[in-house]
Amino acid sequence: MRKALIAGNWKMHTTVVEACQLAADVAKTCSDYTDREVLLAPPYTVLSEVSHVINNTSIIIGSQNICWEGKGAFTGEISPVMVKDAGGSAAIVGHSERRHIFMETNELINRRVKGALAFGLMTILCIGETLDERDAEKTFVILEEQVRKGLADVDGADMDKIVIAYEPVWAIGTGKTASKEQAQEAHAFIRELIEQLYEKNIAEQTRILYGGSVKPGNVDELMAQTDIDGALVGGAALDADSFGRIINFE
Ligand code: PGA
Repeated sequence: MRKALIAGNWKMHTTVVEACQLAADVAKTCSDYTDREVLLAPPYTVLSEVSHVINNTSIIIGSQNICWEGKGAFTGEISPVMVKDAGGSAAIVGHSERRHIFMETNELINRRVKGALAFGLMTILCIGETLDERDAEKTFVILEEQVRKGLADVDGADMDKIVIAYEPVWAIGTGKTASKEQAQEAHAFIRELIEQLYEKNIAEQTRILYGGSVKPGNVDELMAQTDIDGALVGGAALDADSFGRIINFE
C-alpha cells in the first residue's frame, strides 16, 4: 500500500515569525499517522526554524527547489547539503512556477532531480500541462515528455525516493481544480508510463500527488481515486485549519 503524502508548498510566503506560528499550528492538527505523511516546503530562509518547530513530530521538511551540487559558485541556488543541514529531507523540483516564470527546462530539471537523489533527498518532480496544451489535446504528450526527460538516467533503485506531482498549470492558484476523473485519468497515465520506463513493482510503489487548488472541499473526492496518492497544496497550505483538514482527508 502506498502511504499518502500531503505536502504544503508555502512558495514565497512567511517571515520567520509567521512560519514558526504556521508550522506549530499545522503540527497541532496532525496525529500519529500510519497511512500518511506530511511535508512542509517553506522558503529557504525559514527552513531551519521550521524544522526546529516540528522537531518532535512526524512532519518532514523539504525545499522548493534544489541545485545538483553540494556547494560551489551557483549564485542564488540552494544545495542538498544545505537543505539537509537545515533539517530537510526532501525537495520539490520542476514546479510549474519554475518552469513558466523562471523558464526552467526539462533538461535543467533533470539535473536537479539527479542531484537531489545523489544526496538522498525525497524528490518531488512536478509535471503538468498548460490550458493551451490541454485544449490542443496535447496533455498526454506533454506529461510523457516531462516524465521521460525529468527522470532521464534515474535508476530504478532510486525510484523509491521519487514522488511525481501532477499539477495542471491551469489549476494552480486559480481556484479551478481538475475534476476527479481528469485527475485520475492523468495519474493512471503517469503510472502506466512509469511501468513502461521501469517495471510494474516500481510503478505500483511510486506515489503520484495531485496539485492545483486542492482545498478542504475537494480533497476527499480526489484522495478517493485509485491512482491519487496525495496532494501538493499551495494556497490552502498557508492556513493551518484548511491544511489540517486536507491532511486529515477521509
Ligand atoms: P495551489 O498551488 O494549491 O495554490 O493551486 C499548488 C501548487 O502550486 O503546488
